Amino acid sequence: MTPLLHPFRNAARDAVAQILDISPHDLLVSTPPSPEHGDYAVACFSAASVKKIAPATLATQVANQFSSNQYLVSAQAMGGYVNFHANRPHAFQYLTDCLLHQTTSFVPTSLGQGKTICIDYSSPNIAKHLAYHHLRSTSIGHALANLYDALGYTVVRINHLGDWGTTHGMLLAAQQKWGLPNPLTIQSLNDLYVRFREAIKETPDLTDDGRAWFKKLEDGDVHATTIWKQFKTTSWNEFSLIYDRLGIVFDEVRGESAYQKDIPDLIKRLEDISTISDGALVVSLDDKDMPPLLLKKNDGATLYATRDLAAAEYRFATYDFFRSLYVVDRGQSLHFKQLFETLDRMNHTWANRCQHVPFGLVRVGGKKTSTRTGHVVLLQDVLNEAQEKIKQKLNQTMADALPETIDKLSKDIGIGAILFSNLASQRDKDVDFSWEDILSFDGDACPYIQYAHARCNAILAKSNQEINHTQLDMTQLTQDAEWSIAYKLLEFPDILYRSTENHEPHILCHYLLDLCGDFSSWYATGNQDPSLRVLCDDQAIQQARLGLVKSTAYILKEGLSILGIAAPPRM
Ligand code: ARG
Repeated sequence: MTPLLHPFRNAARDAVAQILDISPHDLLVSTPPSPEHGDYAVACFSAASVKKIAPATLATQVANQFSSNQYLVSAQAMGGYVNFHANRPHAFQYLTDCLLHQTTSFVPTSLGQGKTICIDYSSPNIAKHLAYHHLRSTSIGHALANLYDALGYTVVRINHLGDWGTTHGMLLAAQQKWGLPNPLTIQSLNDLYVRFREAIKETPDLTDDGRAWFKKLEDGDVHATTIWKQFKTTSWNEFSLIYDRLGIVFDEVRGESAYQKDIPDLIKRLEDISTISDGALVVSLDDKDMPPLLLKKNDGATLYATRDLAAAEYRFATYDFFRSLYVVDRGQSLHFKQLFETLDRMNHTWANRCQHVPFGLVRVGGKKTSTRTGHVVLLQDVLNEAQEKIKQKLNQTMADALPETIDKLSKDIGIGAILFSNLASQRDKDVDFSWEDILSFDGDACPYIQYAHARCNAILAKSNQEINHTQLDMTQLTQDAEWSIAYKLLEFPDILYRSTENHEPHILCHYLLDLCGDFSSWYATGNQDPSLRVLCDDQAIQQARLGLVKSTAYILKEGLSILGIAAPPRM
């Protein structure tokens, strides 16, 4: 059964289950198409097919027998649905206790208690720039980690750096041929690599040099290792600058190289399920209609997949994970299918806890951001441009602000916009962006949410009034527009749950946009009718409205923070 982290929806489901004497398991609680029909609808269709009674008859039976409780005041049958009206005063009180007094926990953390989730994300290859497309794995992985964390899971954030493989042999061969670049940067390493690839076209034998150097590295040759470590440090230093800028921290940065020592034992344990094919060691997956998983090439070199097997075992042994996620582009779907199937054949009962979380391509202005010819859109350039564009806007709209205020805001808004644009579309969809769309302050974009949050703060500041918690009476809120906001706020824990279980941060993104929409509509009603303004003449109503504003600000900030995005207090 899908747990509902929503006492009012739970109450609706339980009421139907109890009256019909069925288990609540199969009952779905939805939102009626229009608010006049009620707040929560429970469908009687599955119960009807079990009981062989018409859904409408069951719905009528429920509506007739229902008696109000602290959560729900009434029930009406409509077709095969029972529509319940929430007890609004109690809902407002509940929100106040959760969000303002914080005496009741809003998002229960019991779901994740005692369960560990490993999340492998970002995981770039060293000696190459962090390109814009790396942001998709990084932002989705980071948001998923925060989502699991919010639900009480223990999260291990893993960066599985690509620091091993023949590329490094080529780089070592190249530096021997032309010297180690000075200064050593990702750019100079990248140039060195490109130069070597070009040279191979003229002199194919150079490939053997690359192989020979990689062999040295695999055999632990001190000279080769020392230089390779420099490649790694150089890369990590540059990556760290960007991770810092994005506010991303990993619990474990463990490159593929770390598993090299586990391979001989792993290969031994794979003996029963592997075969030699064309001199290479493989796990044949014919019966699953998949190409074989390559464990060792005929020259003895191990592969990406071999190291992933070792890494999966290491993660289970170290963390005893409940789930182990790999946030990697969908181009690697086959790799992960082969990997998990092989883990299963190794009799690892936990193989089915491993899950690939794929995502679509990233495009800029309709074009792919990386190509085989090595043309990439650099992540740092995109971040710089976003910040710069926001800065220009703010310099006009906030002409009196201090330069450091503008700088800080440009960073929070610019980076937020980029992160959000990577998160707001369904994971499996390709994402594209136009600067205009993602930097919009009034469209479906992050600055709009940040702006709504800052506006809540501005209203609270303008009221010049602290909310008096002991006297706060949220039952003063009787307008439908106020209820719409409360209704949305109550959904937040379920939204977190759904975003987490589906591994879809976009659910949370759209929820926040909707909440801002409702907030703006409510706020706009005050333009026509002064009695509907937040800052109105009636003190008790004003306090309650300020309470609603504060609750909204709280959820917007919390939601953005889970997405890894800052909520500037003022804009
Ligand atoms: N380094 C790989 C790449 O850039 C991604 C690694 C993903 N994680 C993993 N455990 N295979 O394509």
